[in-house]
Amino acid sequence: MAARQIYFDNNATTPLHPEVKKEMVAAMEMFGNPSSMHAYGREARANVEDARRRVAGFMGADESEIVFTGSGSEANNTVLSLFVCSSALCIPGSRQTIITSKIEHPCVLETSQCLTHRGIDVKYLEVDRYGKVDLQQLEEHLKAGSVGLVSVMMANNEIGTLQDIPAISEIAHRYGALMHTDAVQAFGKVPVNVDDLGVDFLTISGHKIYGPKGIGALYVRKGMPYCPFIRGGHQEKGRRAGTENTLGIMGLGMAVDMRAIEMEAEEVRLQGLKDMLRKGIEERIDDALFNGHPTDSLANTLNVSFPGAEGEAILLYLDLAGIAVSTGSACASGSLDPSHVLLATGVDAERAHGSIRISLGRDNTVEDVEYMLDVLPGVISRIRDMSTAYIKGGVHASAR
Ligand SMILES: Cc1ncc(COP(=O)(O)O)c(C=O)c1O
Repeated sequence: MAARQIYFDNNATTPLHPEVKKEMVAAMEMFGNPSSMHAYGREARANVEDARRRVAGFMGADESEIVFTGSGSEANNTVLSLFVCSSALCIPGSRQTIITSKIEHPCVLETSQCLTHRGIDVKYLEVDRYGKVDLQQLEEHLKAGSVGLVSVMMANNEIGTLQDIPAISEIAHRYGALMHTDAVQAFGKVPVNVDDLGVDFLTISGHKIYGPKGIGALYVRKGMPYCPFIRGGHQEKGRRAGTENTLGIMGLGMAVDMRAIEMEAEEVRLQGLKDMLRKGIEERIDDALFNGHPTDSLANTLNVSFPGAEGEAILLYLDLAGIAVSTGSACASGSLDPSHVLLATGVDAERAHGSIRISLGRDNTVEDVEYMLDVLPGVISRIRDMSTAYIKGGVHASAR
């Protein structure tokens, strides 16, 4: 291991907040099944419901509108599966079209694609060079009248771009469609209020906000269509079968409490670190091309391309120096395909291959950024020196 270890991959996952860890260690003693009627069960139930209240409160929802799930991916699958469930409560047969965007997380894109084999039509919204969805195109698709659901993520996991969810919800509702947002990356980083956003469904995940992995939640507005994605139990008021992950739920509840206390000041601090990083890269490395929206973006996320340097090589050299970044989303790493998000913003495959994502978190300091700015220029020039593809100020300059 390198002498210094810096974790800059907080969009992949975050370390547990110390308070979350404390809560979960204490909770390990509490093994009762929340569905049991005896004292052990009642204690577990009380803790699960307490966490539900805290999660609901932080997004301005009623506790009855929160369904705990096994992950953000499961919550997203649950919403999309409303098209193909057998209950009378599923999305009506006259509205068998989904509108989503080209830059969604794979758990939305692949599930939507899968639904096309069940007769569902899927429309993918284009995004501009900064990753903002095309609202005019949204309206054009909605005019067809057959759209049951619009699902657009609130913040992108690779480039950090934030969408105008209130505007998208308003347009969707004007044409009678329901509105879902995947807020896995936004929740706990920017204010999320379900009424201000105007959404009918909203997804969150524990491990992106210093909570545990394997726990997510779906907000379901009162009166919305709903079918369980996992069946065979009365848990979550019949909305998600399976004995509740009490540890995960309590950890999520505490993670949300900590975000409520820390988020505002922390996001200002992270924006400062990101600005410092961006400025330092611009000053010290030739031809660095930044991806995503310059201002309407998560404070912690910086995505940058270095023409003539492969993202994987950058990642490995940085890893040797003790710095952890990613080449895109954690889910896509290991894939040799260029990022679908960057391609959708109009970036060419070569530039997409030369990009890294630096995602900051609550443990990062000014010293971490300084160390990164000391190490990165050497890494890029070493890789570029070995590359025949790089001409300073050359091939990719037009892509700025
Ligand atoms: C935008 C987005 N949606 C959904 C997910 C999936 O969440 P989970 O890991 O809880 O399944 C992720 C995780 O990377 C994500 O970034």
